[in-house]
Amino acid sequence: MLSKNLLDELNNQIKFELYSAYLYLAMSAHFDEANWYGFASWMKKQAAEEQGHAMKFLEYVHDRGGSVALQAIDQPPSKFGNPAEIFAEVLKHEQFVTSRINLLYSIAVKDNDYASQSMLNWFVNEQVEEEKTAAQILDWLQKAGDSTNALFQINNMLASRA
Ligand code: FEO
Repeated sequence: MLSKNLLDELNNQIKFELYSAYLYLAMSAHFDEANWYGFASWMKKQAAEEQGHAMKFLEYVHDRGGSVALQAIDQPPSKFGNPAEIFAEVLKHEQFVTSRINLLYSIAVKDNDYASQSMLNWFVNEQVEEEKTAAQILDWLQKAGDSTNALFQINNMLASRA
């Protein structure tokens, strides 16, 4: 059985994953409106992935006989800076999500809850990927600087995300 503390934090995590989806959807809309279709498409796929993360947590709570308590999702920003600034925000947000996963893991360890540790291992590995990808794109954008040509190339590369 899940401890009350872990159940509460898993429910919080569903909200944070859905907020991630909301944030990336807002970024996608911003990019769409600025005609950066590759960046927009990448963000839309990222938003869908975050919904998948929320569902993984929701299903896990049910698998363990817990009750899902959905919470209000914060409103994401509607104004954004340039692509490099946006990806700096993505990286910062993913670092926050990593800290959340680490918190969940530390509770599962304290609880001697091996099933939760096993489930959370997937997210530990996923966050390594999430941070790596955001940092890589940010690095490209910083190298591109004000070069429209380089920005178009990065935009086109991101358009091909499966
Ligand atoms: Fe669900 Fe991007 O972490």
